[in-house]
Amino acid sequence: MVLDINNVSKKYNKEKFGLSNYSLSISNGILGLLGPNGAGKSTLMKIIATISQPSSGTLTLDGQDIVKNPNYIRKVLGYLPQDFGVYPNLNAYEFLEYIAAMKGVGGANLRQRIDMLLEGVNLTEAAKLPIGTYSGGMKQRIGIAQALLNEPKVLIFDEPTVGLDPEERVRFRNLVSELAENCIIILSSHIVSDIETIADEVAIMKSGELITKGTQPEVIQTVAGKVFETVIGGNEVSEFKTRHLVVNSIRQKDKTRLRYISNNPTEGSTPCNASLEDAYLFLTKSNAS
Ligand SMILES: Nc1ncnc2c1ncn2[C@@H]1O[C@H](COP(=O)(O)OP(=O)(O)OP(=O)(O)O)[C@@H](O)[C@H]1O
Ligand SMILES: [Mg+2]
Repeated sequence: MVLDINNVSKKYNKEKFGLSNYSLSISNGILGLLGPNGAGKSTLMKIIATISQPSSGTLTLDGQDIVKNPNYIRKVLGYLPQDFGVYPNLNAYEFLEYIAAMKGVGGANLRQRIDMLLEGVNLTEAAKLPIGTYSGGMKQRIGIAQALLNEPKVLIFDEPTVGLDPEERVRFRNLVSELAENCIIILSSHIVSDIETIADEVAIMKSGELITKGTQPEVIQTVAGKVFETVIGGNEVSEFKTRHLVVNSIRQKDKTRLRYISNNPTEGSTPCNASLEDAYLFLTKSNAS
């Protein structure tokens, strides 16, 4: 499948753009959407999920206009919204059966599918308890399960790993990787390492605009040869930060170890291998030298 986003803008009010002139082509595989708070990740995801309409621009799935014909994507869509709400009095089975009914998913093997999904998100044991009694991470996992009910071909997960403990993060990654072969999967996150381990491609956005999209090595290339480490006195840090983009700092007694991005490294600095996090910080913070 191919999802084409062409020149899409979303204007919330007179001066507020959630997205401006956004264009992106997405094919099967996992796309990681990275951007700071307010970058427009959820706005983009809501528009793809046809929950929200663009102010201008077009979106097509395999050539079909999904703004004019939202059912074309809805029937193959799985969506986990960022603010996923649940019904506290239903248990996991009842909730998934309810969502299945709304999505028009039925048939003899529905119960089997629900069992498989609950197993996949590690909720089998809690399946008969009211969702209102679940922890934050468990609620998130029932949200992941509902997105997969209809065997979707386009999967949108808005901040899926929020609230998940390390073990559940790994389980989620495995689940998603298994689905990726013949699905478009779009994940948003603030946690670069979550995207890093599974995304085939990364799209970095800021202030409603796409800054870059590419494979991880392509994105990392933007900072290759510009990442350094140095140790300076604790009282020199503020001044150093006015000249270089510091991506990490660790205090060691009266000294501070800094990882920074610069075209003009200070004397005695050690070059480092660039990471996706370095590239992300470089591309989303503007005052790099
Ligand atoms: N319903 C709305 N009305 C007005 N402005 C909105 C609305 N929804 C979002 N915005 C604005 O649009 C911009 C993009 O918001 P969006 O929620 O898409 O960002 P995000 O990248 O998902 O952020 P976060 O990481 O915090 O989830 C923000 O400036 C936000 O304030
Ligand atoms: Mg968001």
